[in-house]
Amino acid sequence: MFQKIAVIGAGTMGNGIAHCFAQEGFNVHLIDVNAEQLIKALQAIRKNLDRQVTRGSISEEDSNAAYERISTFTQLESGVKDVQLVIEAASEDLQIKLNIFKALDAHAPKDCILASNTSSLSITTIASATARPDKVIGMHFMNPVPVMKLVEIINGYQTSEEVTRLITELCSRIKKIPATSKDYPGFIANRILMPMINEAISALHEGVGDVESIDTVMKLGMAHPMGPLQLADFIGLDICLNILRVLHDGFGNPRYAPSPLLVNLVAAGKLGVKTGEGFYKYE
Ligand code: CAA
Repeated sequence: MFQKIAVIGAGTMGNGIAHCFAQEGFNVHLIDVNAEQLIKALQAIRKNLDRQVTRGSISEEDSNAAYERISTFTQLESGVKDVQLVIEAASEDLQIKLNIFKALDAHAPKDCILASNTSSLSITTIASATARPDKVIGMHFMNPVPVMKLVEIINGYQTSEEVTRLITELCSRIKKIPATSKDYPGFIANRILMPMINEAISALHEGVGDVESIDTVMKLGMAHPMGPLQLADFIGLDICLNILRVLHDGFGNPRYAPSPLLVNLVAAGKLGVKTGEGFYKYE
């Protein structure tokens, strides 16, 4: 059923999602209101494809073919009018997502499935902006998308079983492994990941260990590829804070209250890799 898909938002997640679908033979419309962001996204995709060629995981010919399958659009209307699936990967702001889904409902074909890559916002609430809540679903990809195998599939309150089945099958076609979650704050991934990151920040704040010790314990002791503080920098401290707030508000449980050190770092503009400093400094 799926041949052509649209991705809304050309940031890190959007370009990674576009990359994966194009690599597996889908035509992809990458949509962003910001034309400059689209150019940057294409450059990032080219660089990541080249890296795969250098490492021998795909041929140069397949890499070029994948790149050619991606077209860019600045107008949502023209980008979604003939697709079978839209995956929204815009900012994690509920109002922005509600506006996008309202527009998608108006301009995407009636039987088109509308997915959100949200990491913690309610799929049921996002679906309420449309007249097709049975066709709205969460597809939560992990960063870096071309490398990470998981897609967390989130069923909203009204998502139909047929839509869940189609999206689950689609994940296999792009060589990802799906895991299904109900629609509660943080779903599965961030309900478990963010309290761990928050606890690592609290341990640092209380002086239990320094940055290096905390990350070394989790890397070498638990075989995590990155320690929790390095991972927080990689995800973005602002994003971690937002997700913790969604958990805290959603469950009303003080155990999800963000560490004051995290709040301070975000207020100081130290957001991790993207700003050059978080728990670590980056060149
Ligand atoms: N695109 C394509 N390929 C990439 C890539 C990218 N952006 N980044 C890395 N790679 C590939 C490399 O080419 C390499 O491929 P091969 O194994 O085929 O040679 C492989 O990934 C490993 O890369 P490196 O050797 O350069 O680096 P590394 O071994 O240090 O791994 C990492 C880097 C994959 C990022 C690893 O550190 C890791 O897995 N970190 C944890 C990532 C993680 O937890 N992500 C989830 C974050 S949470 C999230 O996304 C959701 C949320 O809601 C917050």
